[in-house]
Amino acid sequence: MEGRILVKDRYFVPYIPYERLEKAIDAVAERINHDFKNFDGTPIILCVLNGSILFTGELMKRLNFPCEFTSVRLSSYEGTLSTGVTRKVLGLTSSIKGRTVIVVEDIVDTGKTITDLHALLLDAGAADVKICTMLLKPEVYKKDLKLDYVAMEIENRFIVGFGLDYDQLGRNSKDIYILDSKTEEKTAMKHFLIFGPPGAGKGTQAAKLIDRFGLRHVSTGDLLRREIAAGTSLGLQAKSLIDKGELVPDKVVEGMIASELDQHPDVKGFIFDGFPRTTAQAEHLDAMLAARCQQVDAVLSLMIPDETVFERIRHRAEIENRVDDTKPEIIRNRIATYHGKTEPVISYYKGKGVYREIDGLGSIDEVFDRVSAVMEEYL
Ligand code: IMP
Ligand code: MG
Repeated sequence: MEGRILVKDRYFVPYIPYERLEKAIDAVAERINHDFKNFDGTPIILCVLNGSILFTGELMKRLNFPCEFTSVRLSSYEGTLSTGVTRKVLGLTSSIKGRTVIVVEDIVDTGKTITDLHALLLDAGAADVKICTMLLKPEVYKKDLKLDYVAMEIENRFIVGFGLDYDQLGRNSKDIYILDSKTEEKTAMKHFLIFGPPGAGKGTQAAKLIDRFGLRHVSTGDLLRREIAAGTSLGLQAKSLIDKGELVPDKVVEGMIASELDQHPDVKGFIFDGFPRTTAQAEHLDAMLAARCQQVDAVLSLMIPDETVFERIRHRAEIENRVDDTKPEIIRNRIATYHGKTEPVISYYKGKGVYREIDGLGSIDEVFDRVSAVMEEYL
């Protein structure tokens, strides 16, 4: 059996080798042969496509009594539960009226599929319906319907291979693989955005949060400065744009974020500061994270009244002797720009239900306690 395999966008590790499946199928076939040895009539083996295709083949060649074969597919759910309409059997060409049918399934999970099918086959006139499944997840199966033949019981985890799929892929594997919990832990990485007007203390809080929670702080401003200092081609490109007073294009910023994500696969999560600044960037971040089976878990928005922002910017400008920033109209303009630019991004995240407002007034420690309390809900 191969080691870890990638199916679409998820890693799976070896779980049941083909040799063990063969033994389990031998045993279940023997039980069916025993039960049908003196059977008066010809049962129909009914393969439930697509998942049972390999199992049915293996099982059939071990059956030593006369039997017919047919296959069906189940339509996906139709209508709502309240109407009672669930599924339809597709492709049942041979008549099953008055016949004994042995349904061959790949896996029974909650049992919804198999109980629906059982009822539908009796409705279609079957005299008797026996169930044979290769796999059963006993922890989740809560139906009363008796499962006549179960080749193997497994734990309640997601598997692929030997006919079973993950998003239609992986059916052609001879062995069965299980979702890699180690990779899944990594994909459980958490992502936070820290928002707030200039002077809200985002950088200060982010620095304390990464220490406390073992996260990585990503500030697009810092990343750009680092690239420029290192004299990389990206840095040179960015510097020439900044020197001309132009914005660094989204693509450049997004490229930097992607490489940050790829370079630090082992951290518990990230705190993004200064990104995304536009809804286009927010959508792109979502796509980048989705490709890694991750998402933005929470947007932490430090709330400061405009008057306080005004005072903080003016105070900082005085200390740092930035004459321009002490002019009231310039400060007001910066505050207005902040609201105008971030408002759409805020409503984007509100729409996703991840936007959290946090009172940003008070001492650094008071604010830190409030932000930490929110983050603890996610970590
Ligand atoms: P149930 O209706 O909940 O019993 O689900 C049965 C169907 O769910 C199977 O026929 C499979 O298509 C699918 N299924 C359940 N568990 C798994 C799994 O671990 N891997 C792949 N498909 C599964
Ligand atoms: Mg199936």
